[in-house]
Amino acid sequence: TRRTARAVVNVDLPGPQISRHLYGHFAEHLGRCIYGGFYVGPDSDIPNEAGIRLDVVEALRALNIPNLRWPGGCFADEYHWKDGIGPKDERPTMINTNWGDVEENNHFGTHEFMALCELLGAEPYVNGNVGSGTVREMSEWVEYLTRDGDNPMVRLRRANGREAPWRVPFWGIGNEAWGCGGNMRAEHYADLARRYATYCRDQAGNKLYRIAAGAHDRDYAWTEALMKALNPLGCTNRPRGYYQGISLHYYTLAGPWHAKGSATDFTEDDYYRTLAAARAMDEILAGHSRVMDCYDSGAQVGLVVDEWGTWWDVEPGTNPGFLFQQNTLRDALVASVTFDIFHQHARRVVMANIAQTVNVLQAMLLTEGNQLVRTPTYHVFEMNKGHQDAHNLSVHLSTEGTSRAYGEGELRGELETLSVSASVKDGDLLVSLTNLDAGEPVTVNFDLRGGVVADLTGRILTAAAIDGHNRPGEPDAVVPASFDGFTVADREAGAFGVGLTVELPPHSFVTLAGRVG
Ligand code: AHR
Repeated sequence: TRRTARAVVNVDLPGPQISRHLYGHFAEHLGRCIYGGFYVGPDSDIPNEAGIRLDVVEALRALNIPNLRWPGGCFADEYHWKDGIGPKDERPTMINTNWGDVEENNHFGTHEFMALCELLGAEPYVNGNVGSGTVREMSEWVEYLTRDGDNPMVRLRRANGREAPWRVPFWGIGNEAWGCGGNMRAEHYADLARRYATYCRDQAGNKLYRIAAGAHDRDYAWTEALMKALNPLGCTNRPRGYYQGISLHYYTLAGPWHAKGSATDFTEDDYYRTLAAARAMDEILAGHSRVMDCYDSGAQVGLVVDEWGTWWDVEPGTNPGFLFQQNTLRDALVASVTFDIFHQHARRVVMANIAQTVNVLQAMLLTEGNQLVRTPTYHVFEMNKGHQDAHNLSVHLSTEGTSRAYGEGELRGELETLSVSASVKDGDLLVSLTNLDAGEPVTVNFDLRGGVVADLTGRILTAAAIDGHNRPGEPDAVVPASFDGFTVADREAGAFGVGLTVELPPHSFVTLAGRVG
């Protein structure tokens, strides 16, 4: 029997806005993300502007990157920003102890990061150092970046060639304080977050959205400690505004941390297990949201998933500290189902950053010398960009036989293989559909109610096999194509709405764009 599902969408009942910041990115001083990825230096043969790779900028501009987090990650809590300003040949070097124990020459620093954000059209998200830095150091960094008038930090900035203050909307108060950010206990860190945040002041009209270093995975106790620190009086009262957001890190693996598996060489069971792990994001966001609701029923404090994505064993022969991995259609489908989940949690989840943009973990781009490869994940970000700042439309799915059993014994599991989300922005409708089934197509019968839908066009991302990927020499093996596997049904006279049938091939991601009126 053919696998079918029914989906009802009320196109005239838009829900919460899907912040464009859910499509944010992350660039750490790790492996070849910054050096060789974003930055090659002004003397490179690779076309660049003041050292920033222009092919990378051009590719990323097509994604409408809303914000970029930097300089870490774990690196953030050993980064001392004053080492990264002034003439490059006078900048001190350091050892990047977290990532490969390699020398960091600090040639990419504050000014270079702000120039990169300007080239990308992205808003900066600077992550400060709590683990090994001082309150003064962090507060001076905020002043250096955002203050106007006359003050020692402003004079220093001007001496380094930047007259006007920059705008920095997002500020991280440390990173993974329970781990590489200082191995702290939750209550101790919560007090530090309040203290550091106090001296990260809003300067010259710049308003900071301060993000406390939050939990990972299902550590709801950590989230609770951070919420309690904003609202000691208990449930449902208005939280204090020391920090406006709390982060969450969740990575998708097919197995345990010590055996994450290969990015490209995996079984069908590994594939399903990976996608089940990706879908667990839903339950994890619900868990953290429930805790936050208790202390902040009005959702004033945002949940910021500022690290997410797949994490595999590094590519054979590469530095284990550089976290360089290939990226297949499996990664792309992890991204597409994760976005569906983010859209559904748009009330509480205000921002997210995939780890990481270039050459590290689930990257958009892989570089090798002067070559550049767009990964399958890149194409999901591009195909989905119409959801940015659109309003989420609830999709009521009734699935019949679209779940898939996988694995054996203790590793047995069941995965729902259909995932759909929809949004509307100024009359533009975007529907995203993912069929995770490795071998079977699925038919989705839509009942689009409450409006007339016109001018539908489709695009599809798929590959001959679930491990399809792009590489130098074959950069376009997995790219979007136009898709016409849908029909708009005639409606009886007087019925208001549209019937739409979509035939999704196995392991595919499809977007349908149209106008709703
Ligand atoms: O993204 C790689 C690392 O993963 C980050 O530096 C850290 O925050 C997390 O553990």
